[in-house]
Amino acid sequence: MADFPSPPAPVPTGLDGFLLWPELLTLEQQKQIVDHVRQAVRLAPLYRPVTPGGRPFSVRMSNWGPLGWVSDKNGYRYQPLHPQTNQPWPPLPALLLDIWRATANHPRLPDACLINFYDAEARMGLHQDKDEADFSAPVLSISLGDSAIFRYAPAGDGPSRTVKLSSGDVCVLGGKARLARHGIDRILDGTSQLLPRGGRINLTMRVAQ
Ligand code: SIN
Ligand code: FE2
Repeated sequence: MADFPSPPAPVPTGLDGFLLWPELLTLEQQKQIVDHVRQAVRLAPLYRPVTPGGRPFSVRMSNWGPLGWVSDKNGYRYQPLHPQTNQPWPPLPALLLDIWRATANHPRLPDACLINFYDAEARMGLHQDKDEADFSAPVLSISLGDSAIFRYAPAGDGPSRTVKLSSGDVCVLGGKARLARHGIDRILDGTSQLLPRGGRINLTMRVAQ
């Protein structure tokens, strides 16, 4: 697989450090990544984590990488094993690392990639990604399948705004936006044919340690 080409200029988002490339991934690349996700979840099944307060997430999750993000009654953290199978997470696919190299503008490679699966009713509340050891590395996110309304706001005070994330979109939260608050208001059911049974996959690569 050839290296991923360098991307065009990102589109304006109104938030310094929040970079968005709509439809950066070709349909072929999207299908390849979905195949990788299918292989991953055969080994490391999607499961529904609970918040530290005991509330189930509406999103189902798995991970790639030496480390995976988990949540349970003991809190949020990264760990090397799937909490249900107690097996290591599968390794990050090379294509995802190529996308990171082309867009993240950071010397280190990610050691964790969260796989989020949203059905039509799933959402994710506004939060910050702050379980990582070093915030100088960005968070890179890939959207596949049905579109979603992504809400984002500065790390500190300031109003939130929304943008639609569609299949093949890539975005980066880095620099001043590394600790931006963000979440998913809702899924726009039936907006993509990529996943035969619908829903949305979000892949979030991070340097966790
Ligand atoms: C996340 O913040 O982990 C997911 C964001 C998204 O689904 O786009
Ligand atoms: Fe997040």
